Amino acid sequence: MPEAHLTIDPHFAVGPIDRRLFGGFVEHLGRHVYDGIYEPGHPTADEEGWRTDVIELVRELGVDTIRYPGGNFVSGFRWEDSVGPREQRPRRLDLAWHSTETNEVGLHEFSSWLEKVGSELMLAVNLGTRGTAEALDLLEYSNIAGGTALSDLRREHGRDRPFGVKMWCLGNEMDGPWQLGHRNAEDYGKIAIQTARAMRQVDPDIELVVCGSSSAQMPTFGEWERTVLEHTYEAVEFISCHAYYEEYDGDLDSFLASAVNMDRFIETVVATADHVKALKKSDKTVNISFDEWNVWYITRFENVDKVAGLDNWPVAPRLLEDVYSVADAVVFGNLMISLLKHADRVTSASLAQLVNVIAPIMTEPGGPAWRQTTFFPFSITSRLARGKALELKLDAPTYATDRHGEVPLVDAVATHDEETGQSAVFLVNRSADEDVTLTIDVARLGHVSVLEAHTLSDDDIYARNTLEDPERVAPHQNGSASIDSGVLTITLPPVSWTALALG
Ligand code: AHR
Repeated sequence: MPEAHLTIDPHFAVGPIDRRLFGGFVEHLGRHVYDGIYEPGHPTADEEGWRTDVIELVRELGVDTIRYPGGNFVSGFRWEDSVGPREQRPRRLDLAWHSTETNEVGLHEFSSWLEKVGSELMLAVNLGTRGTAEALDLLEYSNIAGGTALSDLRREHGRDRPFGVKMWCLGNEMDGPWQLGHRNAEDYGKIAIQTARAMRQVDPDIELVVCGSSSAQMPTFGEWERTVLEHTYEAVEFISCHAYYEEYDGDLDSFLASAVNMDRFIETVVATADHVKALKKSDKTVNISFDEWNVWYITRFENVDKVAGLDNWPVAPRLLEDVYSVADAVVFGNLMISLLKHADRVTSASLAQLVNVIAPIMTEPGGPAWRQTTFFPFSITSRLARGKALELKLDAPTYATDRHGEVPLVDAVATHDEETGQSAVFLVNRSADEDVTLTIDVARLGHVSVLEAHTLSDDDIYARNTLEDPERVAPHQNGSASIDSGVLTITLPPVSWTALALG
């Protein structure tokens, strides 16, 4: 049986964990909003039409800031359509997803939902079909108390207090040829700095995210980040990263090591941002907003799901409804480990997405809501990862992959909360068929015991939770964890994700 060893020292910190690392993303896409979070007439719907069963699950998930309203959707969105009396709101073509947007849910309604789930709003502006003026209008409408045309309009629309939106994305995936208004890095850099400077003149306290690459596989990756940051460095707090992973052609070994790609992606963008920092002789550090990440079977969307046709613009079609397996959840948990390992520079992240659309929560119209396999690593990590992320000393065997080269069999991160004295360790065993015995030197944490030990694994690594069998997969208590003389020993089953709480 392979063996691995880990040493934890609470003094060796990577950095504090920003709660915004546990953010989400709600896009007007498929059945995310309509028939997802919003379904008037559903037996659990409240007086505003929100499904309360979904609200409870989102709360349990533990999501901090939520990015809205897209995604690709935002690049054709006119925000004014989504405010004011509902009966006067126009129905529009959504070109990104070839759907009809009814605008029944807009800024005011979504904000009210966020209050119910206990999350903050992060807004994206449209820099695809629109520009600086419309971004300024939306900011004035959202953040100015009153006494101007647009702030008073908001008040007329029933919202006296400003929305007070702190984080703003300057467009979405502008490097992607599929994006409405796609630009090259030079052109995007110019409109982004112009918009950023203008938005700051309205509200100097906002935090701005400039678009990085849509993935590390984009042909312009690296050059895009450098050029865009050379234009915008002084005016933005974050550059975005987006990454989706899937199992290609049955290559499970590479898929299980997807987080290695995320590690390298983050480190490359950090290096590029710091290169621009040096060029600018700046004291300021630009961090990463990893504002789209997940497992997503994009090839299935391209080949099966896509809507088309001049007379076919459905409302809330079933799109991107991936049903996640245990293996997907293990990779997903590993992506969270990667984010935490880089907590010093990844200070905001948004799981893409939340409900029905590549989501940890699924719903059926008129029917139940349930947890996908990926729900568990998110909810447990969000609950246990507190305080600061720690540097670890990990010794583990390696294995060969086609996509990522030689990679460690085990990946891990630990966190420590000085206020409570509690620590947490998150682990994956990437082996497709072997248990790993892991020993962890916990002596430097003092006299600790194992408070919780959750493992997600299954004899069938492709087992899923479905409408017919919504509780097929759930984490189990890992009874193998024990501590003796400052050394914790635990068995990690093949293709597994584990979380330990120590205190
Ligand atoms: O999350 C789904 C889509 O993926 C988003 O709309 C887009 O930004 C990305 O390509």
